[in-house]
Amino acid sequence: MKCLIAFYSRTGTARKVARTVMSTIGQQTSFKCDLEELVDPTNRAGTAGYKLSHLEAAEKKQVQIKPTMYDPSSYDLVILGGPVWAYTMASALRTYVAKNAGKVKNAAFFCTYDFSGNKTTLQDMQELTGKAPIATFYTTTKEVVKGKHIQTVQNFVAALDQGMRAVAS
Ligand SMILES: Cc1cc2nc3c(=O)[nH]c(=O)nc-3n(C[C@H](O)[C@H](O)[C@H](O)COP(=O)(O)O)c2cc1C
Repeated sequence: MKCLIAFYSRTGTARKVARTVMSTIGQQTSFKCDLEELVDPTNRAGTAGYKLSHLEAAEKKQVQIKPTMYDPSSYDLVILGGPVWAYTMASALRTYVAKNAGKVKNAAFFCTYDFSGNKTTLQDMQELTGKAPIATFYTTTKEVVKGKHIQTVQNFVAALDQGMRAVAS
């Protein structure tokens, strides 16, 4: 079973979570897994960067992202993740999903957030991929700082393992 984790992170929270997903998959399953970090070259630092990002996300705009390394069509499962921006996906993830939705066989989603918009973001991921996810989870920035996302990720990976067995049989 081949699995790709494609994620975007502006300030490191979703990156930490993506790495936890990767290591947990290694510990709990026999999946062979690759990690693709989406790179958005636009300067999104500081207040101006925050405002621009918020506006673009709210408008559901696609943005420029750097070329990616892995081909999603050669994976059995693609896990898509990133932060909530304006109650939806961050623009770099939206861009990647819009470009690659047709190449995704089975999908799973996660998002990181501060206060709300987690559920609408997962719904938007489902809508844009056109795939009912095998499993999903969300976790807050505070939980990730304290390492409290680890149990959530373990449950997610167990659900993925079970879900992918069901798909394969
Ligand atoms: C432009 C922008 C918009 C955001 N909008 C939301 C939001 O609607 N709801 C929320 O709970 N958090 C929101 N956040 C907070 C991030 O989702 C949260 O801090 C996330 O964990 C950051 O992940 P990262 O460090 O991987 O970039 C927003 C952050 C940014 C930069």
